[in-house]
Amino acid sequence: MNYRHAFHAGNFADLVKHAALLWLLAQMQRGRRPLQVIDTHGGSGLYDLRGPEASRSGEAEAGVMRLMARAEPSAEMGPLVQAVGEANSGGETWLYPGSPWLVARALRPGDRYDVFEMQPDEHARLSALMAGRKGVATHGADGFAGAVGRLASDAVHLVLVDPPFERADDYARSCDLAAEVLGRDPVATLLIWLPLKDLHTLDVFVRDLEDACEPAPILIAEARMRPLEDPMKMNGCALALINPPEGAQAVLQAICAAVVAEAPGGKAQVWPAG
Ligand SMILES: C[S@@+](CC[C@H](N)C(=O)[O-])C[C@H]1O[C@@H](n2cnc3c(N)ncnc32)[C@H](O)[C@@H]1O
Repeated sequence: MNYRHAFHAGNFADLVKHAALLWLLAQMQRGRRPLQVIDTHGGSGLYDLRGPEASRSGEAEAGVMRLMARAEPSAEMGPLVQAVGEANSGGETWLYPGSPWLVARALRPGDRYDVFEMQPDEHARLSALMAGRKGVATHGADGFAGAVGRLASDAVHLVLVDPPFERADDYARSCDLAAEVLGRDPVATLLIWLPLKDLHTLDVFVRDLEDACEPAPILIAEARMRPLEDPMKMNGCALALINPPEGAQAVLQAICAAVVAEAPGGKAQVWPAG
């Protein structure tokens, strides 16, 4: 495993994923039942944008730095702007909060968060960051294998699946996990992040996911930063949202549109699969 999220933290794809995550958390906390979030691929939780990895890639410059420089973010990006501001204690933006930081910050008393991270050094950083947080458990283990065993019987479930896609079977394992989670809780909501390289890969994934999740409804949100002409590049990103809360299509459309607005030739589209 070579993937290090520090190279990519705060890039356009993180903005799409984390703005969607914050909206989902707020929606799923509207009821009184406790929320359990399971994060299969957590990363280290907080990233130094002045560190060697982020400086080398420059991806945050075109992502979160531009977002934070905007005078007025759109309504859908506002919660992420606020969270990034809090992570930086209201000052200059040099830290970017990952999914563990964002979820832990949102937990109510009684809510739970199980986060997996398989790389020992990333897990050590994550577990130090989460130390003492009530309701949070970190697991230095394979999130695909461990997630279903952690599902609590008394909670509303949100499962975030955010693999590095370094391995070809990350697509198939994401579909298998969705099927397993829905087998235990047919109304669980799952958010799967994926890179957009070429249409063929997306199409095959969506068909497999439909088969795995039948009859659960699925929304696909695409943020294309450029036409999908070079399959060797990450030309954008997509989210698959299974069992979407009401209103999700319009919100995801606005999030993707806000992010691709920075890219000449960008395109945002959200559509129901199936
Ligand atoms: C894209 S990053 C996660 C970013 C994080 N979800 C966020 O939004 O801030 C993917 C992480 O998954 C870890 N990883 C890779 N395979 C894994 C697996 N099978 N189970 C758990 N973690 C894994 C990698 O080490 C990496 O830190």
